[in-house]
Amino acid sequence: MDDLRETTLSRIEAATDEAELEEVRLAAIGKKGEVSLAMRQLGGMSPEERKEAGPRLNALKDEITAAIAAKKAALEDAALEARLAEEWLDVTLPARAAFRDHTQGSVHPVSQVWEECTAIFADMGFAVAEGPQVESDWYNFDALNIPGHHPSRAEMDTFYMARADGDDRPPHVLRTHTSPVQIRSMQAQGAPLRIICPGRVYRADYDQTHTPMFHQIEGLAIDRDISMANLKWVLEEFFTAYFGRSVKTRFRASHFPFTEPSAEVDIQCSFEGGTVKVGEGDDWLEVLGSGMVHPKVLRAGGIDPDEWQGFAFGMGIDRIAMLKYGIPDLRAFFDSDLRWLRHYGFSGLQVPTLRGGV
Ligand code: DAH
Repeated sequence: MDDLRETTLSRIEAATDEAELEEVRLAAIGKKGEVSLAMRQLGGMSPEERKEAGPRLNALKDEITAAIAAKKAALEDAALEARLAEEWLDVTLPARAAFRDHTQGSVHPVSQVWEECTAIFADMGFAVAEGPQVESDWYNFDALNIPGHHPSRAEMDTFYMARADGDDRPPHVLRTHTSPVQIRSMQAQGAPLRIICPGRVYRADYDQTHTPMFHQIEGLAIDRDISMANLKWVLEEFFTAYFGRSVKTRFRASHFPFTEPSAEVDIQCSFEGGTVKVGEGDDWLEVLGSGMVHPKVLRAGGIDPDEWQGFAFGMGIDRIAMLKYGIPDLRAFFDSDLRWLRHYGFSGLQVPTLRGGV
């Protein structure tokens, strides 16, 4: 038994990794190990022999178990030491160029696409208009021919601004779309008019394709004989410039209270291989709502519908950013995760694409 003790303890001492240690453990105190076999023979011994051998075997088993545990801890310490030695960081070293560059930050995809859209529409003669994000419910709804009982007020999951008791000013909301800027621009500038309005909008909604804040770009063109044909040309021109290739569009009859007739616009795409590719294939993807501005809406904006007419459209900026730059989850746009921004962000010097690929 002394021999067994000697060899086992020295093998434990000599072990260089956990696998070796496990081998020694099995050979000594595993089910078929030598100590275990010896213990099984106790039954066949005389009581005197057993009295002497039993405690010795138990003590040996305990000693081996303890030696293995100690060696295991020592091996783990050594591994940690080695890792620390290898991965240590000298915080006094000057930053490498790649890290220095990151301190300059990067342009968020939404800002980039916002700029790209503005540049493309500016090229077609559209000026940028703005409006408040806290909007009266008249501008957000009534003026757009969405009366109080209209279901789309409920559908839009509106955030209402809290009001103090006794405050009887008209209710205000976080604007649910950029369309109220149509009314504000008509009132401020009258006809003729050609504006776009990129901006933040808000709805109480949250899942993989919805965030409580997102971005839209509104378009409005008013003149004496603007038609759906002009709308179609402007949008096709826009998509071709934006995606850098010719993109077919499909106009699908739809309904919006502020346009008549109304159309939803789909762009040509393919869904092969689990990714969406715009401008090829036989599938269609909905990207915006549009139509001819409703006479009531023109009137709300102070424009005579007997003299003027126009088209309007509203499109999701985040949506077309995801499509162009292959970004899968909308929620990540607003997580402020630096690794995401480094991956999808743009350098400040990347100029928006202009028409004709200039
Ligand atoms: N305001 C609509 C929305 O948020 C989008 C829209 C549809 C805007 C049709 C328009 C339009 O200007 O003509 O869902």
